Amino acid sequence: MKTQSEVSINSIEQLSEFAEAFSKKLKHGMIIFLNGPLGSGKTTFVRYLVSGLGITEVASPSFTLINEYKGGGLRFAHADFYRLKSAGELHEIGFFEYINSGEYIVLIEWAELFKETLPEPDFVLSFANESEESRKVTQYEF
Ligand SMILES: Nc1ncnc2c1ncn2[C@@H]1O[C@H](COP(=O)(O)OP(=O)(O)OP(=O)(O)O)[C@@H](O)[C@H]1O
Ligand SMILES: [Mg+2]
Repeated sequence: MKTQSEVSINSIEQLSEFAEAFSKKLKHGMIIFLNGPLGSGKTTFVRYLVSGLGITEVASPSFTLINEYKGGGLRFAHADFYRLKSAGELHEIGFFEYINSGEYIVLIEWAELFKETLPEPDFVLSFANESEESRKVTQYEF
């Protein structure tokens, strides 16, 4: 691990600022795990991350498993493994093509559920609920 840091985020506005700063670190081919319990802000973080690039249609990928966004010269694949039953499904839906192509920034909610099937991430962001509006985010860079 290169670095580990912790930030307190006390509002949606602060989440938005954090997401914007984080977006500057991203390059195609990167893999980011988003950890943390239900409702901790993983999808909301992705929404703010990509909205800075002019992408506004961000649905939770809970049902579709993977959403793709393109904007600002970047391509994102946003996955949620919460409902995934087996790693085999990931092969069936072509998930690894997003990773292997090196042409996407791959964001994965609940990655830890199938972490053994994934390459090492570039970043892990771990969200924790502190109060209704406050989150603690621990960022690990590898
Ligand atoms: N500071 C904050 N940061 C993130 N989300 C916040 C914050 N304050 C309030 N919220 C609210 O918390 C909720 C977070 O829900 P979200 O769907 O992003 O969680 P999630 O981690 O993706 O959950 P799941 O595991 O179910 O996918 C949203 O309704 C959001 O508006
Ligand atoms: Mg979510």
